Amino acid sequence: SSPSITVFPSQKVSKINRNIYSGFVEHMGRCIYTGLFDPTNPNKDLIDSNGFRTDVLEALKPLEIPIFRYPGGNFCATYHWQDGIGPLESRPTRPELAWETVETNHFGTDEFMKWCKAVNAEPFLCLNFGTGTLDEAMAWVDYCNGTRDTYYANLRRKNGHEEPYKVKYWALGNEMWGPWQIEQMTQEAYAERALQWSKALKLLDPSIQLILCGKEGASTWDYHTLKHNLQPAGLSDLGEERLPLVDLHSIHLYTASEDHYENVTAPLAAERHIEVCSSLIDLAFIENKIPPEQKRPGIAFDEWNVWDPKRAPGSKGGEENYTLSDALGVAVWLNVFVRKSKDVEMACIAQSVNVLSPLMTNQKGITKQTTWWPYELFCKYMKGHTIAVHVASAAYEGPTKPAWVRAVKETPFLDVSATLDDEGWVNVVVVNLHLESDMETSIGGVKEGSTVKVYTVTGSNAKVSNMGGKEEVKIEESDWDGKNGKFVFPKLSMTLLRWQN
Ligand code: AHR
Repeated sequence: SSPSITVFPSQKVSKINRNIYSGFVEHMGRCIYTGLFDPTNPNKDLIDSNGFRTDVLEALKPLEIPIFRYPGGNFCATYHWQDGIGPLESRPTRPELAWETVETNHFGTDEFMKWCKAVNAEPFLCLNFGTGTLDEAMAWVDYCNGTRDTYYANLRRKNGHEEPYKVKYWALGNEMWGPWQIEQMTQEAYAERALQWSKALKLLDPSIQLILCGKEGASTWDYHTLKHNLQPAGLSDLGEERLPLVDLHSIHLYTASEDHYENVTAPLAAERHIEVCSSLIDLAFIENKIPPEQKRPGIAFDEWNVWDPKRAPGSKGGEENYTLSDALGVAVWLNVFVRKSKDVEMACIAQSVNVLSPLMTNQKGITKQTTWWPYELFCKYMKGHTIAVHVASAAYEGPTKPAWVRAVKETPFLDVSATLDDEGWVNVVVVNLHLESDMETSIGGVKEGSTVKVYTVTGSNAKVSNMGGKEEVKIEESDWDGKNGKFVFPKLSMTLLRWQN
């Protein structure tokens, strides 16, 4: 039978947290230096007085990216934030062990805060759980957020920043389970350290949100760290108000395959991880007797993307040349976050400039890779509430990566999510994964007489990329009058349909 998609605008599933469109900038390869910060570029018209790339800022600003995570990633595990503040000439250069380079520290906390302001986003800082100490972490929170007459708040003032930065999001380390991590930890050691640090950090600044370092969401590490760190809030034995120590649980996953169908179905593994992780959060609540009315930590999927370090040159596999297949993979990733908006409170594409990024710079300008276009459409339009949608489509039945995806998930050729935004627009993203077939599809739920706005991202074949100097993949805009109630989704495409409800 022919495929059909029926949208139910009045059936809201859950509110979408705009933080799912967040970014990530790490001291890795060309992300910071020559990416967003390029003071020595001879093309002076590309640089503002802070040394920031104006073309990068102008590209990112219209997306209204809510949050940027910084300074890593793996970089955090040896980063001493005090190396990156104060006069440039007194900032030390240090060997950097995650990406095996030398860090000049010319870009640090104050520059990052200024850049966030320039791009109109909130900062999110990741603490050093490798070689860092709790003292250092508390000093960083006080430097950024302190309002009193304290040494570190005064140091910020001395460096020219009178007002506190009010940094809300702080991560308790990054991928501390990874064998590549400086000071890799066991789940027991990490869970206990996170508990002790979070107590102190919340005493220092109760307004912050702490992000626990999980794994991919469906692992004993996730189970153990959640169990150890999710505690009942409320009153202590002494009658003191206790805050929940942990507010979000971070998970990471990267997907990629040279096989198109494996590539575009792999993000469905993330959907499963979110489902399992959400259940682990429930289980920690049950086992620790946390009252159900206490705020449940959301998931921060704070590193996600299509990435295979083996195929990408640059700093340890950092620079991807994205294809149309990868763009469709990114569209499926974003569909996953919209479908799972109840559980996912934040997601950060890894990363935002040059490194595994939809946006590339060279000395003369920028290139928007294939993956830029789905990201732009989601950031601009997939807001408001996730709504119910019924999809009937033939399914892909070949191998998946990982193999278990096919066993636990549906893999329809049409991957769909739908939203109703606060201005009354219905937005439906349909990714046609098929390599050969356009899909004539009945569309139900469109208000009669509506003109449907259509945004299509496609290209001549799965392997085309935008890095050869030609924009092979971009957004095509058109209108659809809803005739016959049937819309043809081209093979290998992402389509956004929008209409006023
Ligand atoms: O985003 C690139 C790297 O991937 C990050 O530094 C690390 O956290 C992950 O392994």
